[in-house]
Amino acid sequence: MQNSKVKITILVDNFAGDGLVSEHGLSFWIETEDKHILFDTGQGGALKNNAHALDIDLGKTDMLVLSHGHYDHTGGIPDVLQMARNVKLYGHPGIIQPRYSMSNEEVKSIKMPRESMVAIDKLPREQLHWVRQPVLLSNTIGITGPIPRETSFEDPGGPFYLDPRGKNADFIDDDLALWIRKDDGLIVCVGCAHSGLVNTLKHIRYLNPGLRIRGIIGGFHLLNASRQRLDETIIALHVFESDSVIPCHCTGDVAVTLLREVLGDRVSYGTAGMTYEF
Ligand SMILES: [Fe+2]
Ligand SMILES: [Fe+2]
Repeated sequence: MQNSKVKITILVDNFAGDGLVSEHGLSFWIETEDKHILFDTGQGGALKNNAHALDIDLGKTDMLVLSHGHYDHTGGIPDVLQMARNVKLYGHPGIIQPRYSMSNEEVKSIKMPRESMVAIDKLPREQLHWVRQPVLLSNTIGITGPIPRETSFEDPGGPFYLDPRGKNADFIDDDLALWIRKDDGLIVCVGCAHSGLVNTLKHIRYLNPGLRIRGIIGGFHLLNASRQRLDETIIALHVFESDSVIPCHCTGDVAVTLLREVLGDRVSYGTAGMTYEF
């Protein structure tokens, strides 16, 4: 059985429609035939407000999937776990580790907020699913687990470290993506695509042989990308025959402009409040 109905609403993004809160962060509400999945939670300030304004009941969340452990994807966890008492949480064990970004000698902690870690710690064990390999959430929905880093032109996308002195690079091994299978192809959700968008799409194709990738939504993290990386990403989107590309969050204006120039109206910028039916 394939999903005849897939509806994705952007709950949190760096930009937001009228009456909604914007913040540097990401969260998607995914509705399929029989599942309500929350993919990431933003920093925590916008999630509840925007869900309420969009008439989305977070209490109905069946599954909470965390793309990786950065603060701008995990801050709303306490609210979700409080509202959806039976929710199953999926994430790589690395999401709770300390981590930092560094620019111009300035060190910033970008780990999951403490309140979110405490909330996860209180979750009944049977509701907590640590993801170390590909996992099926249903017959037609899956999460990748760690994504092999194969391309030469992609990297995690920033000065990320596991220690505040910048000695140990953080390759963001906890990064994962979600896919939904439909008759005519796959819909892919990424958080920040720290594994590289091309690596991510290749791995999802490997997990779903023969299916094209019809839709891609999420943060592509191409802010600091080289021209080669941008060009290779666009070529891959051609190869995977994606007819709906929705960059959000950390994709970067230069990358979005280039994507639109080359792929035309297959590309539309996603902001909080927008809903897509696939
Ligand atoms: Fe992010
Ligand atoms: Fe991130």
